[in-house]
Amino acid sequence: MIGLKSIAGDPLLRQLMVAGRVSDPELERVLTVARRALLDWACGTNASGGELIDFFGALAEQCFLNEYAFAESDDEHVAVARIAAQLSERARAGGYIPPAWLIATAAYRPLHAVAGTEALLGRACPTPIERLLVLQVQEPLEERTIRAALPALTPIADGVSRTVQAQYEENPYPRWVMAAPAGTPIALDDDIRRKFPLAPLRPRGGGEHLDVLIAGCGTGAHPVETCRRYAFARVLAVDLSRASLAYAARKTRALALPIEYAQADILALGTLERRFDLIEASGSLQCLADPQAGWRVLLSLLKPGGLMQLGLYSKLARADINAARTYVKELGFPGTLDGIRRFRQEALAWPDGTPGKSVTRLGDFYSTSGCRDLLFHVQEYQHDLPEIAAFIATEKLRFLGFDLDIRVVHAYAAENPDDPAMTDLDRWHRFETAHPATFVGMYQFWVQKG
Ligand SMILES: C[S@@+](CC[C@H](N)C(=O)[O-])C[C@H]1O[C@@H](n2cnc3c(N)ncnc32)[C@H](O)[C@@H]1O
Repeated sequence: MIGLKSIAGDPLLRQLMVAGRVSDPELERVLTVARRALLDWACGTNASGGELIDFFGALAEQCFLNEYAFAESDDEHVAVARIAAQLSERARAGGYIPPAWLIATAAYRPLHAVAGTEALLGRACPTPIERLLVLQVQEPLEERTIRAALPALTPIADGVSRTVQAQYEENPYPRWVMAAPAGTPIALDDDIRRKFPLAPLRPRGGGEHLDVLIAGCGTGAHPVETCRRYAFARVLAVDLSRASLAYAARKTRALALPIEYAQADILALGTLERRFDLIEASGSLQCLADPQAGWRVLLSLLKPGGLMQLGLYSKLARADINAARTYVKELGFPGTLDGIRRFRQEALAWPDGTPGKSVTRLGDFYSTSGCRDLLFHVQEYQHDLPEIAAFIATEKLRFLGFDLDIRVVHAYAAENPDDPAMTDLDRWHRFETAHPATFVGMYQFWVQKG
């Protein structure tokens, strides 16, 4: 408890725990032990704890944000079930609830899953508990209401789409807290010229508004960022998962942005009568059995001269991720909370150099939805550059450039002085073959419709 007191007093650590997912193996170990101390306090086996209430509250927020990815022992499981049952009974009866019960339960289970906790909303309570009730009861209730009212633009009929939908209904991804800071909105053409000064961009001209489609918008971080980046943007953001869309819509409401959310399957969007200046599909087309079929549907919705930003998985860059995926498959870990927890503990214990070990250095490894998206995905298509180049040629698109870390751009430029516009995909393929980690953050690139 003495060691715990010294870290619990650190305001930076507390801020880190409530601002997003903690992605560090050592810190995860410390927080897992701290959570056990919280549970002991709630069970009465450790009398002290009240002076750490701010820290424990932040820890429970972190556990909710990472969707309870930390290891949980059998005796913790039993103890939490008992405390949650007592909490539920008192909440329904309007009785006194010791703060430790509520915080400990919230650190192991989402409070909205404990019957009767809605009755606690509006009760006067200490700030850490009030924050937990908002995060784990009030906001999920709001999402339930939003979810029921979301429009559906297309049916979800395709078998793979339905399987993918089920994954993201259970685990909306990514769970985000704060949007990236907004800069001054910029015109789309100016943004492209700034990124790719020598790319063969045809000026688009266009009207007062920029009509944007985000295809596979997830939980809203993506459309929010795009909507704030471009001047006069009006965004339609679609996804298969109503749970993801509800999360997105709730977060967007707080930012008052012109983003319309709707459920749709990219594959069925061809019937949509709207057309767009910009379409973004990042991290979504690889969930289709045939990503190119989805890409074609999206191209049909793009205005002539319109721009498209894509994010596709690279087979070469994901070699070590594939080693971990193979391990998951061969040992039969299910994509459930329990299966993901068990796999994570094994992977954290692997010695360095074990095939697949690099996944423990990726942020997604540190939350349940992230780990499921990364290693337990029900459908994942991986590309290579010749395949992308062939599609671009067949569809007569202009390739404008990759979004990449500036160090990679400099390395490519140094090795390829004959490609000043950096748009030669054959050269990029040779570069990637020599440096396979180049696109570990996906092939993120821009094309223009002819
Ligand atoms: C990895 S998440 C990426 C979300 C978002 N683009 C981002 O970058 O944060 C992939 C999303 O694509 C959605 N998706 C996958 N296949 C889709 C389809 N056929 N139609 C619409 N959305 C789809 C999933 O439901 C999921 O929310």
